[in-house]
Amino acid sequence: MEIDPELLDPSTRYKLLIGSVVPRPIAFVSSLSPEGVANLAPFSYFNAAGHKPLALMFSISLKPDGSEKDTLRNVRPASEGGTGEYVINLAVESYAHQVAESSEPLPYGESEFDYVNLSPAPSRVIKPPRVAESPVAFECRTLQIVPVGEFHIVIGQVVHLFVRDDVLGENNRINVDKVGAIGRMAGYEYCRTGDRFEIPNGFPKQPSV
Ligand SMILES: Cc1cc2nc3c(=O)[nH]c(=O)nc-3n(C[C@H](O)[C@H](O)[C@H](O)COP(=O)(O)O)c2cc1C
Repeated sequence: MEIDPELLDPSTRYKLLIGSVVPRPIAFVSSLSPEGVANLAPFSYFNAAGHKPLALMFSISLKPDGSEKDTLRNVRPASEGGTGEYVINLAVESYAHQVAESSEPLPYGESEFDYVNLSPAPSRVIKPPRVAESPVAFECRTLQIVPVGEFHIVIGQVVHLFVRDDVLGENNRINVDKVGAIGRMAGYEYCRTGDRFEIPNGFPKQPSV
């Protein structure tokens, strides 16, 4: 099958994308409105953006009515009506159901922290709280927001990192089994990160991308 994506309707494009780009890591993003209301939502169009400086990116669609999602409003710089700060918490198996539940659209000004019963913990450098239950949390400041059609790619610099003591091993290696990160497949399917294999000669001696 040879496919010109421009000839497809957006929902078919979406199906082909989410069934092919798998598994997708999930950014569990906590942000704060300028009025001080905490917001929490999952984003699986998410990945590392660099480590010089440490940077992450995720992509936010518009709502079906064309308005901006709460997270996008909040992560915009202060000059554009947001706060320009957010935390990327990990999506892990112990609260996987809450990750999915937090995608429920609540009215702007209502906090998903209360809705899904996860606890906010104070961040060290920025105002939005991290998720207390998350074993790793990246405190980020927005560097750039790149519009791509109806999506906005948010690129942020990590200004502080929380790593729970029990998941940090020797030589700053993260114990991925203790973290228990989950990934998103298509539809309602998720995956675990416990099924792995090694390619011994492929191990990078230097950080590689
Ligand atoms: C696992 C998962 C991954 C998601 N990934 C994205 C994504 O990458 N981009 C996006 O715009 N919405 C994504 N969503 C939907 C948002 O989480 C949802 O629209 C949410 O209500 C946005 O919240 P907000 O308005 O508080 O920002 C995802 C939902 C789930 C359950």
